[in-house]
Amino acid sequence: MDMAEAGTDGGRPLVAIMRALPEAGVELLEERCEVRSGHVGITREELTELVAGADAIVGDVGEKVDAELLDAAGDGLRVVSNFAVGYDNIDVAGCERRGIRVTNTPDVLTDATAELAVGLTYAAARLFHHAETDLREGRWTGWEPEGYVGLELSGATFGVVGLGRIGRRYAELIRPAAGRILYTSRSPKPDAESELGAEQTELDDLLTRSDFVSLHAPGGEETRDMIGRDELDAIGERGVLVNTSRGTLVDAAELASALEDRRLGAAGLDVYPNEPEVPTELLEAPRCVLLPHVGSATRTARDEMARLVARNVVAVLDGEEPPAPVV
Ligand code: GLV
Repeated sequence: MDMAEAGTDGGRPLVAIMRALPEAGVELLEERCEVRSGHVGITREELTELVAGADAIVGDVGEKVDAELLDAAGDGLRVVSNFAVGYDNIDVAGCERRGIRVTNTPDVLTDATAELAVGLTYAAARLFHHAETDLREGRWTGWEPEGYVGLELSGATFGVVGLGRIGRRYAELIRPAAGRILYTSRSPKPDAESELGAEQTELDDLLTRSDFVSLHAPGGEETRDMIGRDELDAIGERGVLVNTSRGTLVDAAELASALEDRRLGAAGLDVYPNEPEVPTELLEAPRCVLLPHVGSATRTARDEMARLVARNVVAVLDGEEPPAPVV
């Protein structure tokens, strides 16, 4: 089918943006398609109406694209273009069964997300949240020999769980400070080994030997709660856990209790198991920096992501291979 034939009325194809997309992407879509946008905070009922008759849906990590929504879109749906690199919000198998393409936005957010992970590493290690909160709330009474003593990155061992694009970039950025870099990965990464001196190992060994552990594995059932009590204890009281991937990787209650009991040194988190809910125990946990899922939130990354979302949509509607296919 070409662009002229697509669409509910035989005219321009209809793209339903479930919530919002930066202008850089909307502009590209509007050159070729009719665009219908939802909004942040859209209800499920409104969404069902929004997607009805769409040729393409633009999803994001804040909304599930499940069987119900695919049904609501109807038979004309040809692509779900996710405004994210992760796609655990999408029923990918269901899309595949229905012959609907799924696309994502890799590469363009790698720097932004890895930079945030580095920032969280420093922030957690040096107790930024605790120290700043004390200062703002008038509890800082002056320099103290034992005040806000954190952990040093220089010479430390860093464990990168999942050496994909973002994990690899994190390792590169942290390399100048690191004494040693360990990684887990399904396949060996000879380039990272020769260029960064990184050493592949198993998760248990990585957790035991690392001072700083940064998670870069995808979400989904395979990785759910991969970091629980035993794993947190392996990182230990002088160790730091950073998570910028998906909240489902970490058992939040166990993390909070490890921090509370001083079995874990500190944590820096950007993601939570059931966003936008943030587990109360984490809000109350000490030595924990919490950010509201902002890994890719730089102007550069978000604009490039939006353009890639649009290029993915247009390619599929044109009957071409999209630049970033998932299935
Ligand atoms: C954000 O979390 C993404 O997957 O891009």
